[in-house]
Amino acid sequence: TVYPDQHTAAKKVAARIAALIKNKQERNENAVLGLATGATPVGVYAELVRLHREEGLSFQNVITFNLDEYYPMQPTAAQSYVTFMNENLFNHIDIKKSNVHIPDGTLDQDYLQAYCFEYEQKINALGGLDLQILGIGRTGHIGFNEPGSAPNSGTRLVTLDDLTRADAARDFGGKENVPTKAITMGIGTIFKAREIILMAWSQKKAPIIKKAVEGEISGDVPATYLQLSDHVEFILDQDAASLL
Ligand code: GLP
Repeated sequence: TVYPDQHTAAKKVAARIAALIKNKQERNENAVLGLATGATPVGVYAELVRLHREEGLSFQNVITFNLDEYYPMQPTAAQSYVTFMNENLFNHIDIKKSNVHIPDGTLDQDYLQAYCFEYEQKINALGGLDLQILGIGRTGHIGFNEPGSAPNSGTRLVTLDDLTRADAARDFGGKENVPTKAITMGIGTIFKAREIILMAWSQKKAPIIKKAVEGEISGDVPATYLQLSDHVEFILDQDAASLL
């Protein structure tokens, strides 16, 4: 779906999330959301905060799982995805802190495999993700599933692509300060969500959106795996869709 501008698109995505949350509330159920970081979803989170403040949207029944976190990363660091999520969403809504899950970037590497397995199990135990929102990196990554990721991959420690680290350099005051690794949900984890929305805005994303939507399905561009799903929607602004 192509919208004229990202503001309109972000409002539509937020409205879809709000409808899901309310629908679940009526049935006394939890809404289990997979959340993303980066500049792309910021407008969606801002609109959800507005809906909470101005229209009383409650997040009491919402359980969230974030896609990824840098490794190693202290949650209190300015660049952590914990800080990002708190500042953009969690500090401004009534979500229960115990319902928020973000991969832990502080764990010893020896414990990571078990931890990642548990992260996956927690999602499964709740009946899976109702909705996963995604951005896309210029390498074609979703979450931090860089080129080479397997379609059935689970939550795990990965090595970041050079381009991804270059794109993150500004946040870290230089590429040399960007962690070389991250913990990410896998392509397989993302695929299990009942609904997937990938968002992209601006001309900068147009070439990778073209590859993701129209390119050959290949691990070289992990987002092309989404072509295999029948429950994925790309929500784009006109600029990101301009090469389609
Ligand atoms: C990071 C995140 C991804 C995100 C991507 C794009 O790599 N791990 O989840 O999709 O950045 O970021 P942006 O939305 O800022 O373009």
